[in-house]
Amino acid sequence: MRIGVVRETRSDERRVAATPETVKKLRDKGHELLVEAGAGVASSIPDADYASAGATVVSGDVAWGADMVLKVQRPLPKADGHEADRLSKGAIVVSFVYPGGDDDLNRILAEKEATILAMEAVPRISRAQNMDALSSMANIAGYRAVLEAAYLFPRYLPLLMTAAGRIPPAQVLVVGAGVAGLSAIATAKRLGAVVKAFDTRPAVKDQVKSVGGEFLQIELEANAEDKGGYAKAASAEQTEKIKKLLHETGVQSDIIITTALVGGRTAPRLIEAETVRAMKPGSVVVDLAVEGGGNCALTERGAAIQVNGVWILGYTNLAGRMPFDASRLYARNILNLLMHFHGKEGFKLDMNDEITGAVALTHQGQPRVDGMKAGLPPATLIPEKATEGGN
Ligand code: NAI
Repeated sequence: MRIGVVRETRSDERRVAATPETVKKLRDKGHELLVEAGAGVASSIPDADYASAGATVVSGDVAWGADMVLKVQRPLPKADGHEADRLSKGAIVVSFVYPGGDDDLNRILAEKEATILAMEAVPRISRAQNMDALSSMANIAGYRAVLEAAYLFPRYLPLLMTAAGRIPPAQVLVVGAGVAGLSAIATAKRLGAVVKAFDTRPAVKDQVKSVGGEFLQIELEANAEDKGGYAKAASAEQTEKIKKLLHETGVQSDIIITTALVGGRTAPRLIEAETVRAMKPGSVVVDLAVEGGGNCALTERGAAIQVNGVWILGYTNLAGRMPFDASRLYARNILNLLMHFHGKEGFKLDMNDEITGAVALTHQGQPRVDGMKAGLPPATLIPEKATEGGN
């Protein structure tokens, strides 16, 4: 099969969907790799590295015209036409998709009889762990959130004993201890901060401890998890209790990183403006739940703002700020998904397969609405409008 790797065009997107490592593996399976010139440059991967791995470096039209196209962001509308129009008939597209609202995309995919495989729809089951791009990207986002905060924070994070006296460690609060939250806790701890964390699922207490955080406990309804181990949305009464805890701990904190989300829902508002206003000047709030509307009342999507001297960061593509490793992991997630439905004779898509059926939002142009409903993992939130997917 001819597999195209195209250059991303969204302004804040620096990742690429294949690396020389994954190109070589696909070549070894007998496929022809067509990499658009410059596709990896923003990820610090020169064209020559793809060529050495066995790819042919081609124009955008040739890469888009392949039988299968690998991408990070879904095809976007552009001034000179919709990117999806560049696909050839019957193409397979593998990408983050978040399709809600882009009717043009849906229409073009139908006309092109395209099959679109959505990386955000990989189910969070153990068999699919090595394809789980949301987790790979959340891991990076949690790490990067701490670095972004540390960069703006006007103080050290670790305790320091110097000839000029003692400097106390920074106090970090992490809200939501899923993939991104645990990564943030571990990173802040490694930098020497004192880290506290809260999550509605008491089951994560040991995980928080194991990465060096102190778990904040309050009395909540016993059942914060569904059968699959995912968080259930907190009731209004519970949310008030949580807000009180986060206000009391938050005003004592120097850095707050929020990652609280229940899949498919708007992010709960947990940090009110009054909490931010009561924080010390120079403190930093990083709101990772910004794509779901934000956990903090003051967050502005895509922006870094200051209120009373407190920074509030609402960056949407934190993984894209670490493009080399983000591309490396994302490309491996894609490769693992492709290998999942690769047989001796090449790629074979079986819509009855638990993983393939979940990620295929359209098959040969036909929307698979049932598949979409059943397959979307609880951690996935489809933005209502056709804005860019941020993971
Ligand atoms: P996850 O589902 O693994 O973790 C979310 C955690 O929040 C769960 O442990 C859940 O129990 C907890 N939670 C839910 N409601 C809560 C509440 N009311 N109070 C406290 N905790 C609560 O999700 P993951 O992968 O860690 O992602 C977290 C967030 O980060 C998501 O919103 C995701 O979209 C976002 N994200 C943002 C990126 C960015 O660049 N801004 C990049 C990657 C992820």
